[in-house]
Amino acid sequence: MTKRKIIYKSCSVNSSIHHAAQALKAGGTVVFPTETVYGLGALALAPEAVARIFEIKRRPRFNPLIVHLPAREWLEQVAQGIPAQAYSLAERFWPGPLTLVLPKKKNISGIVTGGLETVAVRMPAHPLAQELLREVGEPIAAPSANRFTRISPTAVEHARAQLGSEVDVYLDGGPCRLGIESTIVGWVNGKACLLRRGALAVEDIEAITGTLLEAPQSARPLAPGGLPRHYAPQTPLIFSSEPVDFESNRRVALLTFSPEEKEEGGYAEHRYLSKTGDMRQAAAALFATLQELEAQDFDLIVARPLPAHGLGLAINDRLRRAGHTETDLALPV
Ligand code: TXA
Ligand code: MG
Repeated sequence: MTKRKIIYKSCSVNSSIHHAAQALKAGGTVVFPTETVYGLGALALAPEAVARIFEIKRRPRFNPLIVHLPAREWLEQVAQGIPAQAYSLAERFWPGPLTLVLPKKKNISGIVTGGLETVAVRMPAHPLAQELLREVGEPIAAPSANRFTRISPTAVEHARAQLGSEVDVYLDGGPCRLGIESTIVGWVNGKACLLRRGALAVEDIEAITGTLLEAPQSARPLAPGGLPRHYAPQTPLIFSSEPVDFESNRRVALLTFSPEEKEEGGYAEHRYLSKTGDMRQAAAALFATLQELEAQDFDLIVARPLPAHGLGLAINDRLRRAGHTETDLALPV
């Protein structure tokens, strides 16, 4: 296994995919792009390779990983007792930003599932991820390619800045199109539940499943997507629609949905997520904007909520967890 760190710049060079696939097959780790965020991958069916992911992320072992499938046909190789609704969702939204939590088969080791009897699966839509999966020919377990609780990477440099030379290969597929993680759905007593808001709007899923239940606490693993503090920049962040008082010598950045939400009050900088107030654009810009703000050494970031529908709910969820105040921390899903 080579320890050389390699960054490939082009999606079209087959040899880079081939090299990344070789690294995976040899038990190594690869950072690769998906349409949501970059993933830190290892062979899902190789427990020792998966263990490296936890070491590199500094992630507690009880946090389960998402298994990325090369094709729909793999669903039945890794999961069983699959509800009809799950097939309908996979049919409609795969490849895409939807993760399904299903009873696992024996070949999926407990290290992948954090000891749970269920496995989270999805088929990513990014062409590079798909090529990699095809070349490897088996599922790849991959969490987002950030260190535990930090900002998820939507560009390969963000991943590299956090994970450095511990990863064997970095595949560069440019900025992620969607920019926030997949939506996660599971089933409790036969009823579809929302386990994490994400890039696929809940309304789109509900068109197939009917109203999603909020997952009961017991069905939710203690995992990053469910932790109150996550996606966090190192700069303190307040997520609130209330006015925020700060001393005039403080450098404070204001983060809003669109340019229209400019505010008085001595902000050193006003950043917005979408020039035109477009939710998709805002989602795609979210983590990169947080990375940039973090790099600018502000004393504080004040983030304002987006309209509470569609992707706005998923973005608000990330901003809330990036925040520091006590009241902001007590939030489900
Ligand atoms: O878009 C995404 O989902 C990205 C890309 C790389 O695919 N991946 C991602 O993985 O966000 P990660 O590890 O950062 O988040 C995975 C989340 C966990 O926080 C956990 O909430 C949930 O998936 N999860 C995984 N396995 C589960 C299980 N068996 N039951 C319930 N939730 C599970
Ligand atoms: Mg993550």
